[in-house]
Amino acid sequence: MALKPVTSPDIEAPTIRLTIDGEQVEARQGVSLYDVISQTGKIIPAMCYHYTFDPFGSCGMCLVLVEGKKAPVRSCTAKAEAGMQVRTEGDDLFQARKKAVEKHLTIHPLDCPVCDADGHCELQDMAFQHGVTNLVNAKPKGLPEDRRSLVLDFNMNRCILCGECINICKDVQMVDALQFFKKEGTTHVVAKGDKGLVCEFCGDCLAVCPVGAITNKYSKYVYKPWQLRKTTSTCAYCADGCQMSIETSGKDVQRVTSPLSWKNKWGDRAETAEGHGGLCVRGRFGFQYIDSKERLAMPLIRAEEGFAPRSWFEAMDTVAGRLKAIKAQHGPNAIAGLITARCTNEELYLFQKLMRAAIGTNQVDSSARYGHLNFTRALQHAAGIGRMMNGYEEITKANVLLLIGTDITETNPVASLRVKEAIRVYGAQVVVATSRQTNIAKLASHPLTIAAGSEREFIQALVKAAIEEDLVEEAATTAAPEAFAALKAAVAGLSWEALTARTGTAREVVVEAVRLYAEAPKAVILCAEGVTRQVEGYASILNLVDLAWVTGKLTRPGCGVNALPEEANEQGAVDMGVAPELLPGQALYADEDARARLATAWRGSLPPPDPGATLMEIVKRCREGRIKALYLVGENPLATLPASTGVREALEKVELLICQDPFLTETSRLAHVVLPATTFAEKDGTFTNLEGKVNRVRPALEPYEEARPDWEVFAALGTALGYPMEYESPQDVQREIMKLLPGYYNLGEPRPVTARPEGYLRNGYVREVEARYAAHTDRTEADQAARPFALTIGQVLYHSGKLSTRASGLLQLSPSKGRLQMNPEDIARLQLGPQDVVRVTSAKGSLELRTEPNHDLARGTCFFPEHFNEPPMKDLAGCVVDPTTGVPAFKFTRVAIEKLCVEKASA
Ligand code: SF4
Ligand code: SF4
Ligand code: SF4
Ligand code: FES
Repeated sequence: MALKPVTSPDIEAPTIRLTIDGEQVEARQGVSLYDVISQTGKIIPAMCYHYTFDPFGSCGMCLVLVEGKKAPVRSCTAKAEAGMQVRTEGDDLFQARKKAVEKHLTIHPLDCPVCDADGHCELQDMAFQHGVTNLVNAKPKGLPEDRRSLVLDFNMNRCILCGECINICKDVQMVDALQFFKKEGTTHVVAKGDKGLVCEFCGDCLAVCPVGAITNKYSKYVYKPWQLRKTTSTCAYCADGCQMSIETSGKDVQRVTSPLSWKNKWGDRAETAEGHGGLCVRGRFGFQYIDSKERLAMPLIRAEEGFAPRSWFEAMDTVAGRLKAIKAQHGPNAIAGLITARCTNEELYLFQKLMRAAIGTNQVDSSARYGHLNFTRALQHAAGIGRMMNGYEEITKANVLLLIGTDITETNPVASLRVKEAIRVYGAQVVVATSRQTNIAKLASHPLTIAAGSEREFIQALVKAAIEEDLVEEAATTAAPEAFAALKAAVAGLSWEALTARTGTAREVVVEAVRLYAEAPKAVILCAEGVTRQVEGYASILNLVDLAWVTGKLTRPGCGVNALPEEANEQGAVDMGVAPELLPGQALYADEDARARLATAWRGSLPPPDPGATLMEIVKRCREGRIKALYLVGENPLATLPASTGVREALEKVELLICQDPFLTETSRLAHVVLPATTFAEKDGTFTNLEGKVNRVRPALEPYEEARPDWEVFAALGTALGYPMEYESPQDVQREIMKLLPGYYNLGEPRPVTARPEGYLRNGYVREVEARYAAHTDRTEADQAARPFALTIGQVLYHSGKLSTRASGLLQLSPSKGRLQMNPEDIARLQLGPQDVVRVTSAKGSLELRTEPNHDLARGTCFFPEHFNEPPMKDLAGCVVDPTTGVPAFKFTRVAIEKLCVEKASA
């Protein structure tokens, strides 16, 4: 059992002794008596208790007798004291608990036959356990259902006022959207202000409700819990790696639940520092794409009159035949492949093996190239670590968290709960530096609004301030004096005037932030898209490593530098070597010995490192006609990359475009062959989450129609190309990976990491450091004057890439509005009404659309969700490719905004 300290993870309450049913037990002073009892293995009834938040004490079920007290006490709210004599059993207690159940049932509607919780209801269980049969005086409340929310219905007739929904929303989510409210002569749970619920729709309140008072609109009245088949799997949206149960009947997904819903709350009070067992809105309510009728049912081959459905035999024959012909005529480097990081580890591994061993090209890349590779490559280079340095528990228990360029509650919502727990339970100080007022900034002790797109300079300012204010740790810097001297010289070249002008942040503010970070025993840096997906993202990560190094935080336990990946298996894509510069296990592709070892294991040969190609190089080579065949797996570059990259020309130029995807996408409409793929819910395999944990993905459904899992297609194609890839199952692939990467399958266990920066600091560092602190030249004042608004294209909570736009539940919550979000003051200044159209002009072109206010945006900034292309705002952005990693930066640009008169707009 773990007990939550009130203020600090480093302070433990004194140990005391007390007696439970005659048995001496040890406990920490002041913790809930209920927790101490459950520690002994005894299960006492409890309905309003939940392991995720502090006891509330409303249901009256957890009664025990404490010597010296006349009446039974509620053990959940009673605190353990030294010398207490506690009795948990006996007929008197049974009768008292039975009375509590009767009291609840007297006003309960007993509509179990039509209740979604029937068979999964704590009140039913309690009534059964206590033999409650006499309900002659029952007086149900007869209240109408509250159906004002888009997702959740509230049936207050069934509510037992346990407060769990309110508490989890307030304490764990820190959203605080619900309240008790007196009306119609009784107490209701309503959204704050008694309005329709508008919140993050995580569904945790639905999950913890012990009865059927909160129900899920998307699956109401369509099942009884015992009719559903539960399959435990891992969410395929973001990299948080949430565990979920996909609940199906026949070929349909009925609902998604999580450990929070069914975890035995009568057992231990669980340690939540590693996670609370819940989901976010995407995981819980974004499942409809799985059994969508828009799924591809058959392979398609382009014919004169459009796509024609064909058998797998014919489609694979065409693909293999044309690939063979292209290879024979132009060589293997006329072929390239891109794969989504939503595939499993086993599929990612097989894909790079197919491209390298069966086809013979090193032109292979994944969607981790959109940003995460900036982080893993930098950390690998500087410290020998190719993933996040800190797991959930270390984030939760950090004294100081420094968040830069991340809107974590939108991109990685369940990971953000670790930051929230750090704030709420452990009293962490949190610095949030972003260009908008993010949800986490609203909760942080030190929210800093920095100018949009200035994360790079803000990080440089932090390093400069740490050195100038002598916040360096001598032991760290004296071990590498030349490196430190070079860093000192490099930051001395930066002017505060320029940094302040660029970031909009005064020196004192930067100093306060860095002092907090440097002086904390356990300090963790978290960054994301605002750093990894921006220009010079690789260099910015190295600058964060500089900050951690000079302040002594790079090698200290509990500290580290981290970047949150967006897609479910970006870390797996890097680990499996789906990048031209990497082999499985993140060995360098240029390492001849490593290549030779792999060639032996594969009983084949690997192509030389050159001419390997990353994503943007592949696009370029397609455009130039050097690549004749492009194999895309779950990737949709036409909808992702800005037009200025020439992506359409590239895709139209290739002789053979193969798209393997569950859906017909913008890109696959251009394809010559379309292969129907399964979703994660039909797959067996693993994902590696942001902590480096390898989580199981299990099939909840048979493949949709003729769709096949990606690994099967790769294996069949490799064999058809003359390179036998005879795997019977994903487990065969796992066995091969295990031989190559012993210890990779750490199911459920994070792998500890140790930073080893010594070699980097002593060798290449001095050569590199000056360039990393050079002032920017690409953001001139003239540019700002001509295009005064900073446009960011980014993620919103309700979506993940383009995949979520196939989930009707999420589209209902967050439809494509085609509106540019702006600060209300800017809207007022430009005198824009809701129907007015603006022209947005960047260096790359113009688009016309309407606007909507977003109070979280700073003046002079605007935002468009990256999930939608109506209108194609991404085409306004240019694309800057990182010189080291090839990561394309295209989510940020400067624009001018002018109001159009309505006639002009519609003309
Ligand atoms: S869905 Fe989540 S955010 Fe909304 S009220 Fe319930 S717990 Fe709170
Ligand atoms: S709605 Fe459910 S969780 Fe909320 S107070 Fe009522 S019974 Fe408890
Ligand atoms: S989208 Fe991310 S945070 Fe949400 S349930 Fe899935 S893995 Fe968890
Ligand atoms: S009063 Fe203790 S569990 Fe409800």
